[in-house]
Amino acid sequence: MAYKVLNNVSVKDVTSSDLLSLKTDLLVIVINKNTKDKVVNQLAKDVSSHLKESGSSVLVPNAKSFNAKNVLLVKGFQDSDQIHKLISMYQSIAQKGNQLKAKDISIMPGTVYPKGKCEMWLIEMVAKTIESNVYIFSETCNKTAKKPSVKKLNILVSSLTKSDLIKAKNAAKKGYAIGEGVNSAKYLGDLPANHCTPRIIEKKVKAMTKDFPKLKVKSFNENQMKKMGMGSFLSVSRGSEEPARMMVIEYKGGKSSEKPVALVGKGVTFDTGGVSIKPSPAMDEMKWDMCGAATVFGVMSMLARLNANVNVVGIMGCAENMCSSKATKPGDVVTSMSGQTIEILNTDAEGRLILADCLTYVGKYKPSHVIDMATLTGAVVIALGRHASGVMTNDQHLADMIIESGEESGDRAWQLPLWDEHQSCTNTKYADLANIGGGREAGTIHAAAFLSKFTKDYKWAHIDIAATASYSTPVKAGTGRPVPLISELLLSKRLK
Ligand code: BES
Ligand code: MN
Ligand code: ZN
Repeated sequence: MAYKVLNNVSVKDVTSSDLLSLKTDLLVIVINKNTKDKVVNQLAKDVSSHLKESGSSVLVPNAKSFNAKNVLLVKGFQDSDQIHKLISMYQSIAQKGNQLKAKDISIMPGTVYPKGKCEMWLIEMVAKTIESNVYIFSETCNKTAKKPSVKKLNILVSSLTKSDLIKAKNAAKKGYAIGEGVNSAKYLGDLPANHCTPRIIEKKVKAMTKDFPKLKVKSFNENQMKKMGMGSFLSVSRGSEEPARMMVIEYKGGKSSEKPVALVGKGVTFDTGGVSIKPSPAMDEMKWDMCGAATVFGVMSMLARLNANVNVVGIMGCAENMCSSKATKPGDVVTSMSGQTIEILNTDAEGRLILADCLTYVGKYKPSHVIDMATLTGAVVIALGRHASGVMTNDQHLADMIIESGEESGDRAWQLPLWDEHQSCTNTKYADLANIGGGREAGTIHAAAFLSKFTKDYKWAHIDIAATASYSTPVKAGTGRPVPLISELLLSKRLK
């Protein structure tokens, strides 16, 4: 099921007198240099000492002239500010809404945008950011745990032409659907691993088709995967009582002649490391090792909700990586669906083993482009930090479009090289390939080099999201990334 928080996002044209009479639990007025409204400017003057930096806000005490229960003035964006500031400003507004137990928020976003952007971009951004930040995870908490109070968002605009008002409504709808996709991904990620096994994910994916009949789901169990020769994938789930599942979700909204874009997500519902076991501190964070698959889930629901005119096939490769007497051992050799044999030198480099077979399988769709998303290496956290996902590719145009979509959506990615010189890291005496190599050097690139042995037949990019899909201690929460980036990429049809 798609996971939504807000029931509704609407766009309303208002004048200043409407602003005073507007009934809402939280009225948010963003003030900037273009604000002409006299009432608002007077208010802003009164509290100006609290509104120095963009994003700073003040709850107006005794806003008696307003019908709203609470009025929040926010010092708006300057056109020289960068997008991330704008996003964090709306994140705080969403959280404020829940803190005040507001049932609805009405926001006047103002008319200052980042360079090259327009009002429609801003409306989409507001809808997306509010929907994805009123989210609070509470499913496994006590019944009295805090739940999101905000159920409705009203975006206030003024003096739009009829056709612009329609555009604004579409922008809000798009932002809301992407925000919902983000929340679906956050939710699957935040669920504890015992509440989110491959079989539980399978149930949720199947349930999603009830909401969205345009999504066609096929699910493969271990026997079926064995018949297809997926020895690499199955080597990961061997040590677990929980059987693996590979889910394929098809969405056809484009011309039937159009080749699909394929999305492949790593869905390790818990990564102990297997026999090459991980150290205990913060091992709980390995419940987010299925965020690549969660991104596929979120993006597919977004496409269906928007009735998008694209063809996309999404693959979720789900397994639990455990150690037991049955588990794969370092040095074991398995045969992948591609026919290449793999020496598993480290059972903690399991994501690439799952992806290898999923990437071979997806070739049968003759995809125009393939993008895999995976929490694949700790090394990407060191290389790029937490603000950008890492992109590696065999097709520069595809990487360019991914990076551009990251900039446009505020969900950024940055490229690392994947050169011929990197390819020898998979050499071994005992099989066609080894699943690790290169020691401590360039771990993120070496993982991609391994994957590239399975993606020769199509245009492919790998996005390492180990640093971006979740916040580590002390926040410990899923982010829903890179749903905004991938949504932008697909909906903008940049891959044409
Ligand atoms: N799931 C981990 C990567 C990871 C690390 C994700 C930190 C999120 C935060 C992956 O399966 C893994 O264990 N990778 C190893 C690879 C190594 C054995 C070559 C790593 O990064 O240490
Ligand atoms: Mn691992
Ligand atoms: Zn992993």
